[in-house]
Amino acid sequence: MNKIITIDGPSASGKTSVAKLVAGRLGVPYISSGLLYRAVALMCLLENASTEEIEGRLGKYRLELRPTPESNHIYLDGRDVTESLHSLEVDSAVSAVAQQPKVRGYVNAVLRRIPGPFVIDGRDMGSTVFPQAEHKFYLTASPEVRAQRRVPERDAAYDTVLSEILRRDEADKEQSAPARDAVLLDTSHLDLDGVVRAVLGHIDR
Ligand code: DC
Repeated sequence: MNKIITIDGPSASGKTSVAKLVAGRLGVPYISSGLLYRAVALMCLLENASTEEIEGRLGKYRLELRPTPESNHIYLDGRDVTESLHSLEVDSAVSAVAQQPKVRGYVNAVLRRIPGPFVIDGRDMGSTVFPQAEHKFYLTASPEVRAQRRVPERDAAYDTVLSEILRRDEADKEQSAPARDAVLLDTSHLDLDGVVRAVLGHIDR
């Protein structure tokens, strides 16, 4: 099978954890598309370049995403930079980078070259990048619940994390509308296992 399953949603909606577990249960790789936008944001920080300047320098780096069953690794010119992609600095820079049309075209081209099957998470995987996907899901949760979930992953206080989530919801909203044929799942009152069971239930149906 070369099925593609898309799991989209706003930041900290749990889509990466869900995508990983669903992929594991199905025995296929999972892909986190946000990591590629984060890698371009890291390029801006490394080069001290503006988001507009980085558009002209995308070809300077060799960007690779290598999926393993448990995680994704991102390489810039052969160097594994995965550990640097979830800092607050990258969080702050990434939305502006992801709004650049050339950056979106570049990331989408990298993604479309990956052979199926896989489970992929992002914002516009079901609506734009893989409209032909077999199953599409869109996860939502209140900003407060998402901030609570994210605090342990960031070395920052709840209020800082919540305001960063609200800022990114606003900045990312253009590319974050659910695909018309996506299954919408509000995860505010579900734990991770409950969301995974709901997703697998729809796939089995
Ligand atoms: O899912 P994430 O938080 O790792 O995504 C990082 C940023 O990349 C997020 O601010 C929005 C952007 N993004 C996007 O615009 N389109 C995607 N398909 C995935 C992520």
